[in-house]
Amino acid sequence: MVVISVRTVSSPSPIDLSVTPAEHVRDVKQKLAERGHPVESFAVFGNGRFYRDDEKVDGVETLFVLPTNSMSVGGEDYDTSAAEMLRREAGVSSSWASNGQLYEYTSTANPNMAAIPWLAFPAHLHHSGPTRVIPFDLSKQMGLEYTATSPNLLASFIRIANKGDQIETDAVATSQAFYIIRGSGKSVSEHGELEWNEGDLFTLPACQKNILHMSTGDSPVSIYFVHDQPLLEYLGVKPSKRKFEPTFYTKDEMYSMIERVKHEPGAEHRNRIGFLFGTGATKETTKTLTHTLWALFNLLPKGDNQRPHKHNSVALDLAVACQPGCYSLMGWELDEDGWVKDPIRVDWEPGAAFVTPPGMWHSHHNESGGDAYVLPLQDAGLVTYQRILQITFSTLSEFPHSPQKPRQLGIENPNSNQKYEPVEEQGKERETERREETKVAARE
Ligand SMILES: [Fe+2]
Repeated sequence: MVVISVRTVSSPSPIDLSVTPAEHVRDVKQKLAERGHPVESFAVFGNGRFYRDDEKVDGVETLFVLPTNSMSVGGEDYDTSAAEMLRREAGVSSSWASNGQLYEYTSTANPNMAAIPWLAFPAHLHHSGPTRVIPFDLSKQMGLEYTATSPNLLASFIRIANKGDQIETDAVATSQAFYIIRGSGKSVSEHGELEWNEGDLFTLPACQKNILHMSTGDSPVSIYFVHDQPLLEYLGVKPSKRKFEPTFYTKDEMYSMIERVKHEPGAEHRNRIGFLFGTGATKETTKTLTHTLWALFNLLPKGDNQRPHKHNSVALDLAVACQPGCYSLMGWELDEDGWVKDPIRVDWEPGAAFVTPPGMWHSHHNESGGDAYVLPLQDAGLVTYQRILQITFSTLSEFPHSPQKPRQLGIENPNSNQKYEPVEEQGKERETERREETKVAARE
C-alpha cells in the first residue's frame, strides 16, 4: 500500500488515500465518494497529464481531481477553471496548461461572435480608376485579422482599365472563380492560358504562382473574383493539391441552359429559375462549382417575385443584369403569408454585389420592365459537403393563401450602396449584429 495525496475542489485540504499499485483511477474516485466527495464525472490529473478512469495510479504521489467546467461544489461557487486551479495548486508551470480555457457549457454554447453583415458592393468601384483588385473587405465587421467578405470567402472586383494592361492575382486558395462582368481578355496561369469574353465564368484550382490577367479588347474589363483564401487563413494551411480541373463556362452555354430550364413544365412555380454550376470533381458528391464554391445562375423574370428561402452558406450575389426595380428582401423571420417579415431591402444594380448572411430569409423581386439575372457565389460547396447547408424554402403548399407579392416591401438597407463609398471606408463599425437566444436546458 502507498499513500497518495488527493486535491479536490470539494475539500479545502488534501485528502490522503491508501491505494495499492494495482488500483485504478475509478477506485480512487470510489474511495473519495466513500469519504463524502463524489467526483464521478471529474477529470483526474497527475504527473503532468490527465488520467482515464481505467488507468492505474501506480507511481502517482499527488492527484488533482478537477471539475471539467465551472460549477457549484459543496454549496460554494467555483468560477476558477481547472487549468487555473492546476496552475495555482499544482504549480504547473507548463505554458500548455496556461493556454487552456474551460467554459461552462450552457452559457458558452453560443459564443458572442461578430455577425456577418448584409452589405452592398457598388458597381462604380470597378467603373473607374486605375487597373487594380478591389477587395470587398468586411474583416473588421467580422473581427477577422485577414481580408474576407465572409468567414470562408473573399469577393473582389478586378478592374483592367486599358487595353494591354496586365494585373496579377495571388490568392492562396483551393478554389478561385472569375466571372467576366464586361470586357474581353485572357488569363495565364500554371494551369494554362484562357481567353474570355463578357459573361463567361471560369474556375481555377490552387495555384503556386500568380495568375496574370490582361485585357485584349478596346473597353475596360471588370471581373467578379471569389476565392476561399479566408477559409485557408482560418485553418492556417496552404493548398497542397489540385482538387479539381480548371473549368470554363461560356455565356452562350449559360443562357442556353436558362432557356431550357425556364421552359420546363412547372418552372414558374419553382423557388428559383436557374441552374447550378458543376465540375467533374463534384459530380458524384456536392454537384457544386468546386469542392468549396457554389454558384447559381438565376433568372428573375420581369414582374416575378421569387419566394423566400434561407441556407447556412453565405451568399455573395452579383447582379449580372437588371433594370431599376429589382431588389431582394432579407430578414430573420417569415410573416403569416410566408414572405419575409420586417425585411431589409437591397436594390440591385448591374455589376454590384451584396452579401446575404447565413440563416437569413431572402426573396427576390422584379418590378422592372425586363428580365434580370443574378449570380450568387457561396461557400455552399464546403457547407453541402459538411451536410449543414439546411436550405429551407417558403412554399405555397405551406402558405396556401399567400399573396403573390409580399405585403411589406422592406426598408432601405441601412448599409446601402450610397453610404458605402469609397471602399476604403468599409472598416466603419455597423450595427449589424444579431444574436439568437440559445435555449438550452440549464443542466441535464
Ligand atoms: Fe439563397
